[in-house]
Amino acid sequence: MATVVTGEKPNDMQASFDKVSSNFGGLLDDPMPLYRAKMNESPVMKGDILEELGVPPIFGNARGRQVYTLFRHSDVGAVLRDQDTYTSGLIGEGLGTFMGTFMLTAMDGDYHRRMRSLLQPCFMPPVLKEWRAALIDPVIRNEYVAPLVPRGKADLIADMGLGFPVRVIYAILGFPDGDQKGLEIFASMALKILAGPKRSPEEAARARVEALEASRALHDYVLPLVAERRRQGSLGNDLIGRLLRTEHEGETLSDEQVTDFVRMLLPAAAETTTRTFGSLMVLLLERPALLDQIRQDRSLLSKAIDEAVRLEPVATFKAREAARDVEIGGVAIPKGSIVSMVVHAANRDETVFDDPDTFDIFRRNKPSFGFGYGVHMCIGLFVAKAEIESAVNAIFDLLPNVRFDPSKPKPEIKGVGLRGPKSVNVVWDTTA
Ligand code: HEM
Repeated sequence: MATVVTGEKPNDMQASFDKVSSNFGGLLDDPMPLYRAKMNESPVMKGDILEELGVPPIFGNARGRQVYTLFRHSDVGAVLRDQDTYTSGLIGEGLGTFMGTFMLTAMDGDYHRRMRSLLQPCFMPPVLKEWRAALIDPVIRNEYVAPLVPRGKADLIADMGLGFPVRVIYAILGFPDGDQKGLEIFASMALKILAGPKRSPEEAARARVEALEASRALHDYVLPLVAERRRQGSLGNDLIGRLLRTEHEGETLSDEQVTDFVRMLLPAAAETTTRTFGSLMVLLLERPALLDQIRQDRSLLSKAIDEAVRLEPVATFKAREAARDVEIGGVAIPKGSIVSMVVHAANRDETVFDDPDTFDIFRRNKPSFGFGYGVHMCIGLFVAKAEIESAVNAIFDLLPNVRFDPSKPKPEIKGVGLRGPKSVNVVWDTTA
């Protein structure tokens, strides 16, 4: 197995998570009233609402391009559907500089189509079914929830939500079992990469060096493992085995491409799942009758996740670049401008969703954008949903009468750039 050589302390995941939260939190806990006013007054706004609200851009804007911000569901949907007019390359200039050259979210046109066709079969429901039974359910239940049972109380973020998404990805990838230190370093590096973009130039320069080091260390850890797997015959039903064997129209992936994909996967798959799980738990614990209904009928869980991702999308913004002069809602947007889309606002557009600020798992199914939309829609959606379902099922099964800890402040879902609760303190009945 490869040795991880880095100065990273193994247990600083929480610190990295808090850093990312404050980095992308922005100036308001609840920006919705402002967004609602914008939706009514200037739904296509010249300017960057992210910048106004103190959130560093995840896209690159070294060239100082004009930014336009969209709020309405119809405008956001139209942009995300039209990948020829609105391209994604700018993502590679921002967060992408920390993640190597094979960044799926930043690919455009035919190249994205070909690479996505190579990767998609590795994430389809039959594969998921297998991973879920063999890895996802047992890992989350046995390693994260069962050990909590005798304690009678926990913070669902610190005690399981931070750990399980990375642990599951680690298991799905087929990395060596039982390497706790490697796993924690892996997790913390993923968060450091995400903490890279900053607002002030001095902070940005410092964070950039740290993020690049973390990214390089991650690359150097993964590449030998991938090469070794290739030497051993590219076997196995884990993700690395599947990535090494995948083929589409005669194309395959090199060791470097597999390594870079793994490197981009961690930041994409880890804290997005942590925060979504945290927000869902808050939304359910705030509604004990609904929680009980879902506990009795687990088939409702999938709808509950979808509704949580609509109401409280963790990735609250998307960005694209206009590849030609366009007009949206009567506003002329010149070629080369950045189109920033407020998913949080679009997902609560009252012209599309009745009672848009209400958590209603029985509402009519309509597209929302928390997992993206169009050709770049989240490739790991089924993985994320399987993990969150496994986590909530294990909580329902093993932590009887789980409820908020009355001795701790009620958690709040907040933030502008990345939303979610900082902690979710709960208690449950124990037999002791
Ligand atoms: C609840 C958890 C998650 C949320 C909310 C989420 C959200 C998103 C969103 C919004 C996008 C679209 C980006 C864009 O249009 O620019 C996306 C893309 C992506 N996600 Fe997720 N994601 C989650 C979990 C995961 C997991 C678990 C994985 C992998 C196992 C993953 C892998 C990816 C990848 C590779 C892409 C790029 C797809 C492409 O560009 O074609 N995500 N995700």
